[in-house]
Amino acid sequence: MPLVTSKEMFKKAYEGQYAVGAFNVNNMEIIQGIVDAAKEENAPLILQVSAGARKYAKHVYLMKLVEAAVEDTGLPICLHLDHGEDFEICKSCIDGGFTSVMIDGSKYPFEENIALTKRVVEYAHEKGVVVEAELGKLAGVEDNINVSAKDATYTDPDQAVEFVERTGVDSLAIAIGTSHGAYKFKGKPQLDFERLEKITRLLPGFPLVLHGASTVLPEFVELCNKYGGNVAGAQGVPEDMLLRAGKLGVCKINIDTDLRLAMTASIRKHLSENPGDFDPRKYLAPAREAIKNMVKHKMRNVLNCSGKM
Ligand code: G3H
Ligand code: 13P
Ligand code: ZN
Repeated sequence: MPLVTSKEMFKKAYEGQYAVGAFNVNNMEIIQGIVDAAKEENAPLILQVSAGARKYAKHVYLMKLVEAAVEDTGLPICLHLDHGEDFEICKSCIDGGFTSVMIDGSKYPFEENIALTKRVVEYAHEKGVVVEAELGKLAGVEDNINVSAKDATYTDPDQAVEFVERTGVDSLAIAIGTSHGAYKFKGKPQLDFERLEKITRLLPGFPLVLHGASTVLPEFVELCNKYGGNVAGAQGVPEDMLLRAGKLGVCKINIDTDLRLAMTASIRKHLSENPGDFDPRKYLAPAREAIKNMVKHKMRNVLNCSGKM
């Protein structure tokens, strides 16, 4: 079974009103924990690699590890570049065997974002690779934000339609109030579902993507804090909001922070309880298991994609 694109996954997810998890990977244990979960849950799966991950582990190591995961599990995995910042990194990943890339032109003005995205789409489609783009900027939502500042950051529904039509992009990351990292909301979590519904209405059948969608599970926050870490005040997106988004055209939900917290909580706990251990396998094996269980929980209760492979 070769790597696959997300095209079929998204079509099924859209129709079935669920989302596919896109998990960030940086090393072997993270990859193994995630794919073992997907195998046990019989769930569709996207593994994604950031520029930072490529710098840390090198493209070739991550590529070979994901190929090994496909061979080991027989799963139809989609391998995706997360937040590609220019044409060159997208080209390098397309030429290097990825089946999906994100070109993140969200920091550019509308027309520049369109031109950059179009260039990547043309190159990618020629090679059978799919492209995700981003419109609107993800950020932490401040208390007492005024409407115009909010609108300037969030995705404009009419612009989203124009963007999709003019670029030919395969999926679009939108900004409706999620943000990257472990501190997503000051106060009560809020997502702009009215905006999401409008975008979905204007782009029927088109797959949307939610970045910054970790739920920041309290059990890992507590473990980190208990065993010498400090992630006090961490707060993620509530599970029910993500389930709702999955019913409204969001076909891909990005998760990185939750993997980091699960892994780090497990390692902190293990080393605190076993101060004599210095064999990396002793603390990485439970960390891999913690990732697997966390991902299974997501697939069942947040993505609703268990059994949907
Ligand atoms: O959205 C960003 C992802 O969490 C990747 O983070 O650039 O530190 O690998 P990274
Ligand atoms: P989190 O930081 O919420 O896990 O988001 C990850 C992400 O969006 C990767 O692109
Ligand atoms: Zn992201």
